[in-house]
Amino acid sequence: MTIARAMKEQMGGSSLIRKMFEEGERLKKIYGEDKVYDFSLGNPNLEPPQAFLDGLRELALNPVPGMHRYMSNAGYMETRSAIAEVLAEKSGKPVTGEHVIMTVGASGALNCALKAILDPGDEVIILAPFFVEYKFYIANHGGVHRIVDTQEDFQIDIAAIEEAVNPHTRAVIINTPNNPTGVIYTASSLEALNTVLQTASEKYGRPIYVISDEPYAKIAYDGVEVPPVFKHVRNSILVTSHSKDLALPGERIGYLAANPDIPEVDLLMGALTLANRVLGYVNAPALMQRLVARLQRESVDIAAYQDKRDLFYNSLTDMGYKIVKPQGAFYLFPQSPTPDEMEFVQMAQKKNLLVVPGTSFGKPGYFRISYCVDRKIIENSLPVFQQLADELGLK
Ligand SMILES: Cc1ncc(COP(=O)(O)O)c(C=O)c1O
Repeated sequence: MTIARAMKEQMGGSSLIRKMFEEGERLKKIYGEDKVYDFSLGNPNLEPPQAFLDGLRELALNPVPGMHRYMSNAGYMETRSAIAEVLAEKSGKPVTGEHVIMTVGASGALNCALKAILDPGDEVIILAPFFVEYKFYIANHGGVHRIVDTQEDFQIDIAAIEEAVNPHTRAVIINTPNNPTGVIYTASSLEALNTVLQTASEKYGRPIYVISDEPYAKIAYDGVEVPPVFKHVRNSILVTSHSKDLALPGERIGYLAANPDIPEVDLLMGALTLANRVLGYVNAPALMQRLVARLQRESVDIAAYQDKRDLFYNSLTDMGYKIVKPQGAFYLFPQSPTPDEMEFVQMAQKKNLLVVPGTSFGKPGYFRISYCVDRKIIENSLPVFQQLADELGLK
């Protein structure tokens, strides 16, 4: 065979999200941009904050000698320290630059974390609905994923995790605020998760980590704050990026940080740094590291996303769609009005309305709407959602 069997299998099951996106591009060519309601991809429509653009201009006009060279695999200490300062402030833990590594997006951070902790056959628990790439990333490092469902309100089901944990369990990946549900996990559920995993870690004689994937942490609404994972979970590794909060997904800049309370945290940091190198990332993009160092307290306009969440959530629930109200990120995850959500997705597609089936996230019976689009597209799509609701007898 020309390519590896494993890749062939992965390509076969590859992303419905991308397929929907490509379908959107095809439809836009036929019907025009404003006649296609494309809610398939989480690609932020906002521009980065002015402070980013100012920083970029300033650096270009006043280059620092050597600024395009290789550096330490963990990244510039100036940037890592700036990040650590905010993490320490939020969590109350003694986080320093030594606990932070700059990475190629949250995706790079996830791969470094999994590379550093997994032995072949180790299990990683993922919570349905989940970000689909987790399965690939776990497989990249010889791990095996184990899916555990969440509760009806998409909060963590602690009892189900307790039941799933076994001697092979090495980590649990959580994602808060969540893609695709927008749910933020409560401090008490993180505490409960910590208790279960601490007990299991002691029983099985090695740490079970929580990898907390938080690229949407700053996109939280109604004054809700994402509980700092370091404060509530001892063996926690935070992975994140500026793809969403600074609208820089194409620049591939992120970081990971380890809880200073992890036993042998220095050894773990050494493994994570080596992982960054040997996975071929070498280091995170240099220019971006310099820029984000100054932007740790900045973000895109969160109110603009909240306005879209409110418009979409209120309108759809009025029509009879059932949705857990998202507290953050820029997704809605309504229940499908048809038992098989593929039927609904196809009905919608015939009306140039593109949403992603819940099956892509390991949660059939739902569909995802990504609302990081122009408000006008949301407004124009509402009559189409209403038509579908009428045809399916919602309400
Ligand atoms: C939950 C989640 N994790 C990780 C990522 C990857 O982010 P990055 O672009 O920083 O690699 C995404 C991107 O959509 C995401 O939704």
